[in-house]
Amino acid sequence: MTYVIGEPCVDIRDKACVDECPVDCIYEGQRMLYIHPDECVDCAACEPVCPVEAIVYIDDATDEWQPYVAANADFFADLGSPGGARGLGRQSFDAPLVSQQPRKDVAEH
Ligand code: F3S
Ligand code: F3S
Repeated sequence: MTYVIGEPCVDIRDKACVDECPVDCIYEGQRMLYIHPDECVDCAACEPVCPVEAIVYIDDATDEWQPYVAANADFFADLGSPGGARGLGRQSFDAPLVSQQPRKDVAEH
């Protein structure tokens, strides 16, 4: 199983979650971060630290959240299982669903 990052993360990218993850499985796309569904060990450390409540356990994903369950997996279609996010850094792409989202009016950081 896995935790999943959803729409509230798009363009916000707070990254507090990254510092909590013991297995470095939260990867950075261009506009959002993604949890690797096979690398996540369900420790739950990331979920409470996100300021916009963008992280849910997969079993708690509502119908509205389901497209992001797929998006978290889609992001890794070409990357496979890198085994660690820090070495990879920010990628220049997103899952297709995320690329299609309207931009939020927030400062780039
Ligand atoms: Fe995104 Fe929240 Fe992490 S905004 S980067 S899921 S702390
Ligand atoms: Fe998974 Fe979050 Fe822990 S991504 S490994 S539940 S910090």
